Amino acid sequence: MTIDSIESVSVDRLRSLQLGRLRRTLHRGYSNVSHYREAFAASGVHPSDLKSFEDLARFPLLTKDDLRRNYPFGMFAVPLSKIVRLHASSGTTGQPTVVGYTKMDIATWSRVMARSIYAAGGRPGDMAHVAYGYGLFTGGLGAHYGAELLGCTVVPMSGGQTERQVSLIRDFRPRIILVTPSYCLNLIDEMERQGMDPASCSLEIGIFGAEPWTDALRDELETRLGIDALDVYGLSEVIGPGVAQECIETKDGPTLWEDQFFPEIIDPNSGVALPDGEFGELVLTTITREALPVIRYRTRDLTRLLPGTARPMRRIERITGRSDDMLIVRGVNVFPSQIEAEVMKVDGLSPHFQIELATTGNLTSITVHVEPQEEASVDVDETCDVLTRHIKDNVGVSTQVIVREPGSLPRSLGKAQRVVRSETP
Ligand code: DLL
Repeated sequence: MTIDSIESVSVDRLRSLQLGRLRRTLHRGYSNVSHYREAFAASGVHPSDLKSFEDLARFPLLTKDDLRRNYPFGMFAVPLSKIVRLHASSGTTGQPTVVGYTKMDIATWSRVMARSIYAAGGRPGDMAHVAYGYGLFTGGLGAHYGAELLGCTVVPMSGGQTERQVSLIRDFRPRIILVTPSYCLNLIDEMERQGMDPASCSLEIGIFGAEPWTDALRDELETRLGIDALDVYGLSEVIGPGVAQECIETKDGPTLWEDQFFPEIIDPNSGVALPDGEFGELVLTTITREALPVIRYRTRDLTRLLPGTARPMRRIERITGRSDDMLIVRGVNVFPSQIEAEVMKVDGLSPHFQIELATTGNLTSITVHVEPQEEASVDVDETCDVLTRHIKDNVGVSTQVIVREPGSLPRSLGKAQRVVRSETP
């Protein structure tokens, strides 16, 4: 049994379905949202110009600023009375963005999330511990509705209360956990603190997302927790978690649920569409959303499109970072995930780390704060040398490394805050 037979539809059938849905989305956006009407007119295009997939590149891109300018409900294509749920992004820089859902949008979201949990190996009857935050963040409720639709027993734990999370995992014996990878590391540390052996706990599947993570961290999570660790991708502007999900058969990057979301890759500098296989910024168009049709949304996430393997639909390569997370240090582009990969290679270091970016005048320097594992006795000078060298050789920047006391670095309760910045004139 599969949760959703559309997953295995033939590529030809999928393309014709996508083209029809894309056309309808363009028409709906144009008729109901003044932003699209004006933006299409400014670019000299009309929805009826879309004859083939290539024509989509003629339509204007949508940015987070466009969504902010239309705060709170200006992008909605249905009256507020048809909206059954609102979520909002955290808005760390200025105005948050608000997303709305009709009843049908919630059903669509539940379906793609149920499909995602199934693709990760979850089955009806499994117990699923949801440790993504509940609230305006889409992680908790998105995972919750999907797991319920699949027929799982859901534990709606949310983030935080780490000790309690661990007692509940011990007592309830869930098979699946849905959580950010960085918070999962805290849960594992807490299990050890409580004298539990994480590898022998009931968990068999971890569905990790909401932040970039590396294959090195996958190995760590799989070994320490004795699970299969799978990547789930999504973003609130598009729907929430469940836009793409890695399949347990192949573990080779998330399959993008193309019957609901149409992907493109563009050059982040020029905005020009790139062919499959080329690396760039992911642009997404929702092709069935009612409340908030998102047309050519610039996600800022960097990846490439790859052919389907476990499913006919295309995959995205694991997201290594966002164009706005990229640190530029003396001309070298650095993503926090690259530093993570190097930290994980050093024996005796825990996966907890923080990057401090200090700018003095025109000069930027990086300090990487790391922690030894509780039980490890590391030679501090040697560890600093080894990590500095690895980062210089593999990432290309010079860093200072500081080894801190075990447990002293801030722990994430949801999405990890990897970079702290300071500026002196
Ligand atoms: O993070 C939705 C989500 C919740 C996804 C739970 C997966 C699991 P936002 O808060 O809007 O939504 O943040 C979206 O998070 O554009 C990416 O930069 C990043 N992100 C999400 N999933 C992944 C992932 C949720 N698997 C932003 N790998 C996105 C890397 C991810 N980055």
